[in-house]
Amino acid sequence: MIKLVRGFKDILPADTALWQYVETTLRELLEDFGFAELRIPILEQTELFARSIGANTDIVEKEMYTFADRKGDSLTLRPEATASVVRAYIQHKLYAKDPVWKLYTIGPMFRRERPQKGRYRQFYQINAEVFGLHDPRADAELILLLMTFMRRLELSGIVLHINSLGCPECRPRFKESLKSFLADRSEQLCSDCLGRRDKNPLRIFDCKVPSCKESMQDAPSILDYLCHACQNHFFTVKEILDRFNIPYEINHSLVRGLDYYTRTTFEALAGALGAQDAVAGGGRYDGLVKALGGPDQPGVGFAVGVDRLTELLAGRAQGLEKRPDIFIAAIGERAQDIAFQWVQDFRLQGVRAEIDFENRSLKSQMRRADKFGASYVLIAGDRELDSKAAVLRNMTTKEQKEIPIQDLIGLVVNTIKTSITGSE
Ligand code: HAM
Repeated sequence: MIKLVRGFKDILPADTALWQYVETTLRELLEDFGFAELRIPILEQTELFARSIGANTDIVEKEMYTFADRKGDSLTLRPEATASVVRAYIQHKLYAKDPVWKLYTIGPMFRRERPQKGRYRQFYQINAEVFGLHDPRADAELILLLMTFMRRLELSGIVLHINSLGCPECRPRFKESLKSFLADRSEQLCSDCLGRRDKNPLRIFDCKVPSCKESMQDAPSILDYLCHACQNHFFTVKEILDRFNIPYEINHSLVRGLDYYTRTTFEALAGALGAQDAVAGGGRYDGLVKALGGPDQPGVGFAVGVDRLTELLAGRAQGLEKRPDIFIAAIGERAQDIAFQWVQDFRLQGVRAEIDFENRSLKSQMRRADKFGASYVLIAGDRELDSKAAVLRNMTTKEQKEIPIQDLIGLVVNTIKTSITGSE
């Protein structure tokens, strides 16, 4: 048997209702916050990611699915979406119409990481990106949006970490101080981090090797190196979060695994998930649009990891799956024939209808209706057809009533729609 590729997974029908619930909840909220959907391809030129995420990051060095296509061009399955959204903003000159854009995108990402619970090689993100706004209220508003989303999902125990990574003005000073801090710690650093020390010392904060983690515990804090403008920016973000009663922890080692960030970074963590506990992460990336050949427009955004969120919500899948409003139990050839027409008519009227083609006994069709969890069953056999009335059974109250065949569709649709609005 041919099986799935390691680190990839199927999302089975038992789970898709939960996935749709998560996606719809965030989609609606994003639209309330003024975001429009952007759809982008999953394949891009490799250079896009190397230049945006950064050549010395784990993602670019070790995790990308990169291949040469038949013409020899180097292509990569996207490991994240921000770079592609920026590319689209530049390529389609969206900024020319208005520099300010709020865009969201939903889809799979690919990273060849070591698979484990909560970490997959194909995983799904919902990204929100804002262009053209320097104002710290844009950062704070995104965090508010993210935390409102967590609240809508009724997720408790989500901890928000925030940090500021400064700007090209102040970060070089911090890097120098980090380098001199690390200068006499060669023994504690893994070989990867030894390489990173000169090229990209901030990345050492991300390293999971215990000796590296330990040596970084006393590392200097970037927050002590922020220039005035970055300090003010961070202060306003915190002030807004306070004002909206959003609790947060300041985590000066939150550098995130991508090189494009400037100023605010943040992550939402769910302790219940274990080692892979980040359910969302993001931050500001003011230099990225320009670095990729666009105008000097700032950006800020986040991505939510849908796989991890649905894992957190796993207990809630029940009750979300879509059940038929009505099951038609048709007994006998003649009834089956008419019922086939009815089932199509119901669906055209927006009623979820199901039928069994096997012409089984009433008893076994009723069992099937129960298995589907249908709210109503319409029973029609030769006797009912002769008397020109079918029987409608409410599966909750067990009440039955006769419905004249002549007006059957209208009457049944009415009963179902009234019972749906009545129970809301
Ligand atoms: P990221 O932190 O790399 O950020 O990913 C965001 C979220 O995607 C993570 O918090 C996690 O929930 C999920 N995720 C990442 N890798 C995996 C994996 N291997 N398996 C399952 N879930 C995973 C970014 O990708 C940035 N582009 C976010 C951003 C948008 N920054 C600004 N705008």
